[in-house]
Amino acid sequence: METDVKKTEVLEAIRNRRSTRTFLDNPVPEEIIKEIVEAGRYAPSASNTQATHFYVITNKEKLAELKKLVSAVIASMQEKEGMSPTFLKLIARAKEGEIDVTYGAPVLIVTTHRKASQNAVADCSCALQNMMLAASVCKVACVWINQFFTLRDEPPIKEFFASLGVTDEDVICGALSLGYSENIASGPLPRTGFPVKYID
Ligand SMILES: Cc1cc2nc3c(=O)[nH]c(=O)nc-3n(C[C@H](O)[C@H](O)[C@H](O)COP(=O)(O)O)c2cc1C
Repeated sequence: METDVKKTEVLEAIRNRRSTRTFLDNPVPEEIIKEIVEAGRYAPSASNTQATHFYVITNKEKLAELKKLVSAVIASMQEKEGMSPTFLKLIARAKEGEIDVTYGAPVLIVTTHRKASQNAVADCSCALQNMMLAASVCKVACVWINQFFTLRDEPPIKEFFASLGVTDEDVICGALSLGYSENIASGPLPRTGFPVKYID
């Protein structure tokens, strides 16, 4: 019986996880951040390599520096064929004035992996999903931030992460912004996509 209750709770947590994009300045207690990161470390990894590396940034100066760098890099970019409409809008906004792709969250978790691994993004994605679920049940708002992955080869971004210990052998994958919010999104979005085909 106890197993059934847990199953319902886990499935509910999966359904109710949402992306939130407004954050309060309030810091997230260290023990909660650690719980969320531990959930990421309990993700599966291809061949059990456990090679995903977690950079947990709460230092305000570093976050501000990164925000400025990313905004300047995006503002300097030319629109190119193949860029997503969302990214094109981001370029246009950055050209008008400084933007913050992290939404001012007080915590940023960036995942990296070995560049040579063909499972880098898959491993990091498993860890990121675990952390999003853990954040959701801890009532901590979060959202995946893709720009560090998209801009991973831009020199200012590489230099910044090199200063944190990311080497040329590593690749930046996905990241999460986390923090408390007065507007945590709730209720699942309708599923109109995600086609499924059962082959009996
Ligand atoms: C690979 C990936 C990249 C994403 N990148 C961003 C991003 O850079 N900024 C952002 O605000 N949301 C980003 N998201 C969040 C999606 O927009 C969000 O998951 C989607 O709109 C569905 O909403 P939900 O998470 O509330 O269910 C990303 C999600 C994924 C899976």
